[in-house]
Amino acid sequence: MTASLLSAQRVLITGASSGIGAGMALGFAEAGAAVVVNHFGQADAAEAIVRQITDAGGQAVAAPGDVSSPADVAGMFDIAAERFGGIDILVANAGIQKDAAFTELTLEDWRAALDVDLTGAFLCAQEAVRRFRRQGLDPARSKALGKVLFTSSVHQVIPWAGHANYAAAKGGVKMLMETMAQELAPEKIRVNAIAPGAIQTPINMAAWATPTAKESLMKLIPYGRIGQPEDIASAAIWLASDAADYVVGTTLFVDGGMTLYPCFARGG
Ligand code: BGC
Repeated sequence: MTASLLSAQRVLITGASSGIGAGMALGFAEAGAAVVVNHFGQADAAEAIVRQITDAGGQAVAAPGDVSSPADVAGMFDIAAERFGGIDILVANAGIQKDAAFTELTLEDWRAALDVDLTGAFLCAQEAVRRFRRQGLDPARSKALGKVLFTSSVHQVIPWAGHANYAAAKGGVKMLMETMAQELAPEKIRVNAIAPGAIQTPINMAAWATPTAKESLMKLIPYGRIGQPEDIASAAIWLASDAADYVVGTTLFVDGGMTLYPCFARGG
């Protein structure tokens, strides 16, 4: 990792106590950023990430909060302001799955996924943009006034039976991201998304924990391996850095080719 890519920048990563978010927290710190590690009810795990970063000489602080609560969201950004003097990058990453066959999907689980995966992303992004404006452009930190990066999913384009709530939320994230990018680019706010494929984390353990599950998962991944959080972190670091200053409103798929319709390699 290039240590200077994010030096002097401050990032808030939601859902950073586990999985892809934790991988991004460690990666962003290694790339020189001060990291606000948001978590929801996982203080020990978040503190462990913070310690790992500070033990390696980086800067980090834990920030509890539910992304679907406006008051909690404001609290996370306040921690960033108190501890690091502001924020340059938001990674709206927190996400959950509440899987069920379509007719079994309860309103409660529909709402839970939409609340975290879409409304949570909206609330965090809205607060970030307000803070970027208040802070003003600081060329010593970045060419942009601020950057918002959403963790979307391949399921912003791949329909997913048994996951209607999750796929609907991620489809929403795609249009939220693109609309924000169009609206905010004139202010030098860059908005983009990363769309991970199957990354080996607790959220999808059922897809990789047994040899049979893994074998069927591999049929969906032309590149022949499951992704790791570091695969997402390195792409996210670049997208959030000034090296990607002209990248606006794009979704970067980091999926080992999952979106290439691999079934068609032997059919059609
Ligand atoms: C989901 C995972 C799934 C992956 C590929 C992700 O967005 O959270 O559970 O393995 O997409 O299908």
